[in-house]
Amino acid sequence: MPPTIPTPHSFTLTIDGQDVTATVGQSILQVANEHHVEIPTLCYLDGLSVWGGCRLCMVQIVGQARLVAACATAATEDMQVVTQSPQLHDYRQTILQMLFAERNHICSICVANGHCELQSWGQKLGVDHIDLPYRYPDLDVDSSHPRFRLDHNRCILCTRCVRVCDEIEGAHTLDVMGRGIQNMIIHDLNEPWGDSTTCTSCGKCVHVCPTGALSEKGTSVAEMVKRRQFLPYLTVMREAK
Ligand code: FES
Repeated sequence: MPPTIPTPHSFTLTIDGQDVTATVGQSILQVANEHHVEIPTLCYLDGLSVWGGCRLCMVQIVGQARLVAACATAATEDMQVVTQSPQLHDYRQTILQMLFAERNHICSICVANGHCELQSWGQKLGVDHIDLPYRYPDLDVDSSHPRFRLDHNRCILCTRCVRVCDEIEGAHTLDVMGRGIQNMIIHDLNEPWGDSTTCTSCGKCVHVCPTGALSEKGTSVAEMVKRRQFLPYLTVMREAK
């Protein structure tokens, strides 16, 4: 007799008043995605580990005073999740404003114009002006790699590039250096990208970047479409193994 494959325990919770089914171990975001409820995200990317750093996916849980990050919070039985409210909308707008004000995101001259997740969330959530003072930091552009470019001015420190390089490519060329406002994506021990001895030039970091921070040299704005099909495939293969 073939062995019985145990079915994962499933349970019910509500998202925006609708009953939905989830299985043990799923995050609120995964359940919402499965049921076509849109929650804004920036640092989350299906196929990579969860970092929970951007806080754009904040949701309310009825009965809890504090908001939680949907990507980093496990769904539980009878949980009542609220993904849309005036308060959440305000918080999400403020988070986006802080990201826009922190570095130099000038969409009109950015290579990712029209293909940028920060820009499209700004448009979707109605961020048509920034109330905060812009910092206008003087940041480098690393063009030392023959194929790729890292523009720190467009980086939102979502760490998708760091995680894909480590978890999927296995090179761990990229990492984060510094604290707070000094945080910076680096290659190896803060060497120019072109001098990296660990970079495999696979380009995965470029394709998971949500903004124009990582780009391929020689691409026009219209060609800046990110190709991420490899992520779910590699995750499934890794789990199967
Ligand atoms: Fe959840 Fe960034 S997407 S914290």
